[in-house]
Amino acid sequence: MNMAAIVEIKDLKKIYRGRMQTLTALNNVSLKIEKGSFTALIGKSGSGKSTLLNCIAGLIPFDDGSIIISKTELNKMNEEQRAEFRCHNLGIVQQFFCLIAELTVHDNLMIPFDLNDEKREEKYVEELLRQLELFDVEERFPFELSGGQQQRVAIARALSRKPSLVLADEPTGNLDRQSGHQVIRLLKKAQAYFDQTVIFATHDLELAKYADQIFLIEDGQVTPYE
Ligand SMILES: Nc1ncnc2c1ncn2[C@@H]1O[C@H](COP(=O)(O)OP(=O)(O)OP(=O)(O)O)[C@@H](O)[C@H]1O
Ligand SMILES: [Mg+2]
Repeated sequence: MNMAAIVEIKDLKKIYRGRMQTLTALNNVSLKIEKGSFTALIGKSGSGKSTLLNCIAGLIPFDDGSIIISKTELNKMNEEQRAEFRCHNLGIVQQFFCLIAELTVHDNLMIPFDLNDEKREEKYVEELLRQLELFDVEERFPFELSGGQQQRVAIARALSRKPSLVLADEPTGNLDRQSGHQVIRLLKKAQAYFDQTVIFATHDLELAKYADQIFLIEDGQVTPYE
């Protein structure tokens, strides 16, 4: 394995076996992501962006091939070990936020520290909130926020522990154009300051252009774009 690769995917196959039909969402996908890089994943709705990110996160099983993250093969771990691995190494922004409804914004942002039994970095979290223009929402609950605010809280939560790999699924899907650009620039800053590796999915080619490399997903295949 290339020493500088943080993610190495080989011949990945993901099949959804539904009640009505069987769908091959990813077919022999191979790619490498360099440590410290900023990668965009583009493709139309239903092309498999979330599927690929969820496979990399170890959140869904796959049918064939391998995914190695930081020299650790996902399929060589059991469910519990994968959860532990996620906690330590990954920052995940799901397409549908997944904030905990019973917790305030502040407490949602502390989850990554608490899960890892680590000291809470309140100062950095404050800074993220400021950069994401989330003033005065810290003590609110998710249902008291707009969709775009919830999305930005989910981004702050994913970044709060400065994880080595950030997987962001359409992190700008609910934002206006200007806020979308702001969010991607923040991800890029995190990447540059803390040497984080970022992979984000988007429909928006303009946003994808912030990336060092762009991959296109189409017909179950992933190819470098341009
Ligand atoms: N749990 C599931 N069961 C069956 N099929 C699924 C499941 N999840 C996704 N699919 C199908 O797999 C394909 C890829 O879906 P995926 O969610 O990865 O696309 P996407 O690129 O993220 O789309 P979007 O841009 O709309 O978020 C789609 O055809 C979808 O219908
Ligand atoms: Mg998706």
